[in-house]
Amino acid sequence: MIKVEHLTHIYDGTDSPMLKTISLEVEEGEYVAIIGPIGCGKTTLLKHLNALIVPTEGNVWVDGMNTRNTSAAGEIRRRVGMIFQNPDNQIVGMTVEEDVAFGPGNLRLPPREIRQRVTEALETVGMAKYAQRHPHTLSGGQKRLVTIADVLAMSPRYIALDEPTSSLDPAGREMVLTLLRRLNSQGIAMIHVTHNMDEITDVDRLIVMKDGMIVQSGTPEEALSGV
Ligand SMILES: Nc1ncnc2c1ncn2[C@@H]1O[C@H](COP(=O)(O)OP(=O)(O)OP(=O)(O)O)[C@@H](O)[C@H]1O
Ligand SMILES: [Mg+2]
Repeated sequence: MIKVEHLTHIYDGTDSPMLKTISLEVEEGEYVAIIGPIGCGKTTLLKHLNALIVPTEGNVWVDGMNTRNTSAAGEIRRRVGMIFQNPDNQIVGMTVEEDVAFGPGNLRLPPREIRQRVTEALETVGMAKYAQRHPHTLSGGQKRLVTIADVLAMSPRYIALDEPTSSLDPAGREMVLTLLRRLNSQGIAMIHVTHNMDEITDVDRLIVMKDGMIVQSGTPEEALSGV
């Protein structure tokens, strides 16, 4: 479980908190969507879930590990895969295959296991036949699938996604959303930040943020009726 307790975040060099006493839990296997106006703190909240930043006040726990514990950061980042808003900032390999191998390589796994994870992850996202391609030759939707394969190669329990369908055409969006639903049905919890209301109609829980706070939380119907 991911547990966020009274999380307040003040960025260095600023006075006012960007997140204000946020509390939230994400159960294993849940599909949670987060919406809210530009600048309300959605990306800041996601960064806390995989220990990219740590609370100014309060705590974030991932499966019992506190994100303040620097020795747990590696394991937290393995469990909570992060899909950033722009895939170009996340793809590091010269080929698709090399990119997906990067994470498991850092875990110092045996080469055979790394190859197996890369093959499986690329098959899962439907990108196996692009393994030798240069990532920059792919479409936006395909790049997004590669970043999801990057994360899958680490066997995550949770995936935090920052507007994963932004700037995709309808076909690319559908490709990504279908994959996310399938991975969720296989037990990976999703924490999905979006601006597209039509993407959140069938999620388990919708969280509405405003000014660094959670202002609604419930089924999409419940959460939206209060907005
Ligand atoms: N490193 C930083 N230092 C100072 N302020 C920051 C930093 N990163 C983000 N902010 C500020 O924190 C606020 C919240 O940003 P955040 O990116 O979390 O919002 P968001 O809800 O994801 O917005 P968007 O919908 O535009 O993606 C913004 O005003 C932003 O300028
Ligand atoms: Mg954002």
